Amino acid sequence: MTTPCTFHHLLGLDSLAAEEIQAIFTRAMALLPTASGSSPPLTAARPRMVANLFVEDSTRTRMSFSRAAQLLGHTVLDLTESGSSASKGETMLDSALNLRAMGVNAVVVRTAASGGAKLLAQRLDCAVVNAGDGRHEHPTQGLLDILTLQEALGSVQGRAIGIVGDIANSRVARSDLLGLTALGARVVLIGPPPLLPIAMSGLARSPGSASIEHDLDRVLPTLDAIIMLRVQTERAAGGGIASDYRTWYGLTAHRLARMANHAVVMHPGPMNRGQEIDGTVADGPRSVILRQVSLGVAVRMAVLERALSN
Ligand code: CP
Repeated sequence: MTTPCTFHHLLGLDSLAAEEIQAIFTRAMALLPTASGSSPPLTAARPRMVANLFVEDSTRTRMSFSRAAQLLGHTVLDLTESGSSASKGETMLDSALNLRAMGVNAVVVRTAASGGAKLLAQRLDCAVVNAGDGRHEHPTQGLLDILTLQEALGSVQGRAIGIVGDIANSRVARSDLLGLTALGARVVLIGPPPLLPIAMSGLARSPGSASIEHDLDRVLPTLDAIIMLRVQTERAAGGGIASDYRTWYGLTAHRLARMANHAVVMHPGPMNRGQEIDGTVADGPRSVILRQVSLGVAVRMAVLERALSN
């Protein structure tokens, strides 16, 4: 009798225990010298194939996963919607099944369909890593955000982290909220009522650890870090948003000056400078936005190692 194989998928942070998150961080920090180029790339004892299946646009996540797989000594197959047979009617699932038939050992998927990563995990006999599925989750972004916060603040336990903007449409907000509250942080979800469903605070992993706030200026001085989000016009957000969004929710130099001296500024990207964040803030000394990107490669190395460990 054969034992059914269980794969180390990463579909979301909703099901990842605090200990598992910290184990990924420990491994990511051990891999950071390689990720940052100060140590040479690794040679895989058993080289594998990783497929990037990106049927929604991406700059950071796709490049970061490719870099991570290369640095681990694996081969990357890169499929984007543009130029693929999606234009002839092929579904994402059929594309994934074809990649698996070519022998890939893990599929990294980006899709506009919420729940699309889970759908693939149910049908493929290999590991699936969610690189952002619709409004659902973006778990590796959540992990790299939390690791960046841990590095900047020492620990997220008991810290107040503000997430500002289009919470309703943001998979990053969901993964950040789930991961941060699993590790004992307090999350303040901030935005205009049309972009901030009050039920969102109910996703927190511990009762009472998330709150809803519509007045950014009122809470700014209480925050240890602020994560700014873009208004996702591609997901029909923005229609009900006033043109003076920046006036109420933009992170300007004036607003930053009202935050605690130790507080850091984050953004998952892509940024809309002059809307949710001013260029002087994004490029300023309190910004750890590019550090998020650098740590992201190490986090994705750790996640791919875990996914390929079957
Ligand atoms: N943060 C993020 O997911 O960026 P991309 O859409 O460029 O991958």
